[in-house]
Amino acid sequence: MSAERARIREALTAIGAAREVPELARIEREVLGKDGAVGKLLAGIRDVPPAERKAFGEAANELKRTLESALAERRAALERERIAAERAAEHFDPTLPAARIEHGSLHPVTRVVRSLEEIFSSMGYAILDGPEVELDHYNFEALNIPRDHPAREMHDTFWCDREQKLLMRTHTSPVQMRAMLGLTRSGGKPPLRVVVPGRCFRNETVDASHEHTFHQLEGLVVDQGIAVGHLVRSMRTILRCLFRSEVEVRLRPGYFPFVEPGFELDMRCLLCAGKGCKVCKQSGWVETCGCGMVHPVVLRNGGIDPERYTGFAFGMGLSRLVMQRYGIDDIRHLMGADLRFLEQF
Ligand code: PHE
Repeated sequence: MSAERARIREALTAIGAAREVPELARIEREVLGKDGAVGKLLAGIRDVPPAERKAFGEAANELKRTLESALAERRAALERERIAAERAAEHFDPTLPAARIEHGSLHPVTRVVRSLEEIFSSMGYAILDGPEVELDHYNFEALNIPRDHPAREMHDTFWCDREQKLLMRTHTSPVQMRAMLGLTRSGGKPPLRVVVPGRCFRNETVDASHEHTFHQLEGLVVDQGIAVGHLVRSMRTILRCLFRSEVEVRLRPGYFPFVEPGFELDMRCLLCAGKGCKVCKQSGWVETCGCGMVHPVVLRNGGIDPERYTGFAFGMGLSRLVMQRYGIDDIRHLMGADLRFLEQF
């Protein structure tokens, strides 16, 4: 028996001195395993006189527990050492400032769209969405722009198929038709008041004020007795809310087959206060919006009786409004994905 006891005492010393976890596992197997010293000690109880058996058993079990807790303690100590060494290897310096968390921010176009949505909602407009890949029918035909119409040439269209039925929408106006049909096909009647912010695409030569991908905000109001005065008043109100100051506007005649009469609405360039700059092409005015009274043919295509109802529509150049609001002098920054630009917002 004393051989086993000596073996166990040795094991206790070895545990205290062990430098690695596998070493502890080996010692554990040797003393606590099936043929280990503790097992042999416990088996030896048979040879102990009955009167001493209880005390012997208790002492043997006590030894076993001592071994077990010595192993557990040493394992924990080695783990602590390992973590400390790892930290030291990382040159962990708790006095250094924390790493900066990079926050994203909203794109300037998104910001202006959100402001406009708020303004229009407060005026009772519903906000609609429409597909960016559109049918020729909605983008042109139903808007009174048939196949051979010269106005098609003003829109350098990106076609999606050979038959030229599908295209990347060149303006947000197709949603006018979708809105009217959405209302009338479900048995509804005007008043109709909607705005549609969205991306548009034209195969254009890119320069400081033209992009192949740009944003518009379409507006459509149909009701009884709507007239040009409502249109002008609405546009003034919206621009005043957006720029938080009175904005000078002017109307010029403009040609769009889906309105009659049609206008171009310009605003005084805020970047140069009307003195002339790169963005307003030295004119002091920025084209803000095509607009006009909805053409009777378009109303009829939308299922609305032009004898009873009239309406106005406008298509705001959102990208240009964004440039005016934030003083951006080149439209290419907007879709350029340059962080040096985007991080300023
Ligand atoms: N859709 C026209 C364009 O992109 C703008 C417009 C919208 C004009 C609504 C009149 C009415 O140029």
